[in-house]
Amino acid sequence: MIEVKNIKKGFGERTVLNGVSVTMQAGKCNLIIGASGSGKTVFMKSMVGLLVPDEGEICYNEKDFNKLNNEEKKEIRQQIGMLFQGSALFDSLTVEQNVMFPLNMFTKDTYAKKLKRVNEVLERVKLKDVNRKFPAELSGGMKKRVGIARAIVLNPKYLFVDEPNSGLDPQTSLVIDKLVKEITTEYDITTVVNTHDMNSVMEIGDHIIFMFQGKKEWEGSNKEIIFNKNERLNEFIFASDFLKDAKDMRMLEQTGKINNDRDMDKLLKG
Ligand SMILES: Nc1ncnc2c1ncn2[C@@H]1O[C@H](COP(=O)(O)OP(=O)(O)OP(=O)(O)O)[C@@H](O)[C@H]1O
Ligand SMILES: [Mg+2]
Repeated sequence: MIEVKNIKKGFGERTVLNGVSVTMQAGKCNLIIGASGSGKTVFMKSMVGLLVPDEGEICYNEKDFNKLNNEEKKEIRQQIGMLFQGSALFDSLTVEQNVMFPLNMFTKDTYAKKLKRVNEVLERVKLKDVNRKFPAELSGGMKKRVGIARAIVLNPKYLFVDEPNSGLDPQTSLVIDKLVKEITTEYDITTVVNTHDMNSVMEIGDHIIFMFQGKKEWEGSNKEIIFNKNERLNEFIFASDFLKDAKDMRMLEQTGKINNDRDMDKLLKG
């Protein structure tokens, strides 16, 4: 379990996180949403120990990560998989070498065993015949898959994904979102995803945390978001008139005021 307790983080004069507390739900997709610059990446980097908060605690199994000794930190780190904003694959390494990298770092397994594991995770993200390709030869969606494969190769308990959909078309984004969700459920991982993609929110948002000006402004599920009355959240999520109308329609459907299975052709003709 990951518990964030009142963390603050700033750079010079600028406060980015101003007292954030949240419990990440185990075995679920926890989504952090918020405008560009609201501190999602800083928050994620703090959770994985790449940044040290000025105040507050990041607790794994009720112990503050930043108070652990090096040995204990290493143990937690091995349980964390991360996909950085923009995939961050090593350009000079092949797909196979990229995915094998964490195994080389953290295990003393034989090459054959490592290769077997690499092929297992590549298969899981539905990538075939790409072992010897370099990142530059892959499409954006394929790069994300390689990134996900690398993030899960050590069988993590915790998976952190920063903007999985940046630069992808809506359909490919959905495929990647679903993959993240499937993997989360299948391996019972506690997953944290940073996103500002509305489709992700609705598809995979078991638990959504909305960040605004360094604080947690709202939290709830993708079901609750439709009915939420938080003005800042609604401004952020349902930014266009089109989406505001869609929200209204969904509310009418969910409260039974209009029929979910209505025949639009018939309605329009009649
Ligand atoms: N190492 C750093 N030094 C100084 N300022 C930083 C540093 N890292 C982040 N910031 C500042 O913190 C703020 C939040 O940045 P962050 O990258 O977390 O935003 P974000 O919500 O992830 O945005 P995006 O949606 O564009 O990825 C920004 O104002 C940024 O300039
Ligand atoms: Mg970011």
